[in-house]
Amino acid sequence: MIQLIHTKSAFKAITDQLRHDGKTIGFVPTMGALHEGHCSLVLRAVKENDVCIVSVFCNPTQFNNAEDFEKYPRNIERDAELLEKEGAKFVFNPTAEEMYTAEEMKTTFQFDFGGLDQVMEGKYRPGHFNGVVQVVSKLFDLAQPTRAYLGEKDFQQLAIIRRMVRLMNYNIEIIGCPIVREASGLAMSSRNERLSEQEKQTAVNISHILFESRQLTAMQSVSHVQHWVVEQINRIPGLTVEYYQIVDQDTLLPTDTWNNAIGCVTVYCGPVRLIDNIKYD
Ligand code: PAJ
Repeated sequence: MIQLIHTKSAFKAITDQLRHDGKTIGFVPTMGALHEGHCSLVLRAVKENDVCIVSVFCNPTQFNNAEDFEKYPRNIERDAELLEKEGAKFVFNPTAEEMYTAEEMKTTFQFDFGGLDQVMEGKYRPGHFNGVVQVVSKLFDLAQPTRAYLGEKDFQQLAIIRRMVRLMNYNIEIIGCPIVREASGLAMSSRNERLSEQEKQTAVNISHILFESRQLTAMQSVSHVQHWVVEQINRIPGLTVEYYQIVDQDTLLPTDTWNNAIGCVTVYCGPVRLIDNIKYD
């Protein structure tokens, strides 16, 4: 049976005991509304560690839009059932009051991002990565896992968490896992639950255009392809690009060569903000 844990003290007691018993811990932080993308991380954590622990916590400090936070899908019973099937042993599901003091909720957590937060998601969602680092550092302190599993779907988040682990000297191996897509190509996301069937069909174009852009790299410059992708997506009724940036996979800085390049996109499909990315190298 999977065990649901709601308090930090119970969570810490369990992970302390596991470490004391010499068990390796694979940890998967999530915000719930789980789908096959999350499950791919869980399955890998189950396979590579003695015990897999998942956190399900919709973190208020990383949302810069109150409506997005309110409308974020939540279903802990269904999530716990799914996680049990996948082989996870513990689910940490605290309330915001359990995770944060009132003061922490009011002030912005500070972290030296080394510029990683100035581009793309950092630029368009100010404060977002402060909240992500705040919650992930707390979760890492409590779980002290052997390995933590994160998806390449949130490529910038993965780069920032890698930096956090280096700077804060966490003894945790960060495992980046590839994007899981629907058969249609649409990158799986909890926010897809907010799309109508019609919108979902529209959103499929995002990945198709990204895939198509990969065919252009032999003949075209980075800046040409960047403009081409924006134009193609914006041409589809119902889709509006917020940004498309082709950057270096390590520094996340804009690049003008295809070497180690990744294209990261954010698109509004109606009111729903979707992200995706594609590696060119
Ligand atoms: P959430 O969006 O729930 O995602 C949890 C993890 O699942 C992240 O590492 C994310 O990259 C990964 N993931 C989501 N969709 C995926 C897909 N289609 N394929 C592969 N992996 C996918 O990311 C967060 O939550 C939060 O910011 C969190 C790290 C939990 C901090 O609150």
